[in-house]
Amino acid sequence: MNKGISRRDVLLLTAALPTLSWSADKLKTVTATWRQIPASGEALPVIGLGTSRTLDVDLDSDMRARLRGLMTTFLRGGGTLVDSSPMYGRAEQVFGDITRDIPDRDNFFTATKVWTTGRDEGVQQMQASMNKMAVDKVDLMQIHNLVDWRTQIKTLREWKERGTIRYIGITTSHQRAHEEFEQIMKTESLDFVQFSYNIADRVAEQRLLPLAADRGIATLINRPFQRGNLFRRAGKHALPSLATDLQCNSWGQFFLKYILGHPAATCVIPATNKLHHLEDNLGAGYGPLPNQSQRREMLAIFDGL
Ligand SMILES: NC(=O)c1ccc[n+]([C@@H]2O[C@H](COP(=O)([O-])OP(=O)(O)OC[C@H]3O[C@@H](n4cnc5c(N)ncnc54)[C@H](OP(=O)(O)O)[C@@H]3O)[C@@H](O)[C@H]2O)c1
Repeated sequence: MNKGISRRDVLLLTAALPTLSWSADKLKTVTATWRQIPASGEALPVIGLGTSRTLDVDLDSDMRARLRGLMTTFLRGGGTLVDSSPMYGRAEQVFGDITRDIPDRDNFFTATKVWTTGRDEGVQQMQASMNKMAVDKVDLMQIHNLVDWRTQIKTLREWKERGTIRYIGITTSHQRAHEEFEQIMKTESLDFVQFSYNIADRVAEQRLLPLAADRGIATLINRPFQRGNLFRRAGKHALPSLATDLQCNSWGQFFLKYILGHPAATCVIPATNKLHHLEDNLGAGYGPLPNQSQRREMLAIFDGL
């Protein structure tokens, strides 16, 4: 949907921040962190939004108002990228319904996926996704879990050529798929790759993140909280003093900043449908990011929990 984030002004986004509850102290010193998509040089805010389970909901009027507020806050707080999939039940439709009348909805960077076998089936599914999301273009179309990727990648290239999608990519969240994933990264021309990476699951550091950097491929980081497991581990432990140095007000921000401390992480996509969690996550896009020695310290702290 976004026709070129680089044309937009970070200051504009920052100017909107005073309306957010957490923004007052942040605003003093910071602008949101953005990173470039290597294929184009276009910049993306580092905090995105996942939709698995969180947007697969019944849209009664209360839920509609709540989620519309969530999406408005996401844009105003400096987010743009929303990641969905036909695999996520009603999520694409719910995104389309709740954002349809948001005035600046063109600022969303829409990412979804094709998740089926066969050329015609892929075409039909992608068209259905666009209808559900209420867009006539998709910013990023990804092949979900590599399903029939040899077939789908041809269609993705055609659609990119004719301008219906702007970027193409592949996704996984399974370590067992990494070998094939890596081969595709080496042999195909991709704009984005999406895989899991978090402070407890760092397998991607070994090969996928360095390879993405080498090949000039942007990365979307899924399962940043290991589907919420990281919060169960943090429990009621007090935040360490390092969190203060990094301007982290919560364990959520601590976990997100650990990921963003890796230079090859372009955008991280935590999922939530709760406003206070969304605001918390957006906060990780502001202030300092950890350097290598601070990341080692973060890891030691986490291992000690
Ligand atoms: N193969 C693929 O393509 C693939 C696979 C997996 C995931 N993904 C994408 O990646 C996204 C993220 O992964 P995920 O949804 O599996 O897991 P996740 O983002 O690691 O974790 C989501 C969980 O974290 C909780 N949470 C979020 N923000 C929080 C905060 N600030 N404080 C406390 N709890 C918080 C949420 O609970 P609340 O709802 O209570 O906030 C939710 O239970 C997905 O939604 C999807 O878009 C793609």
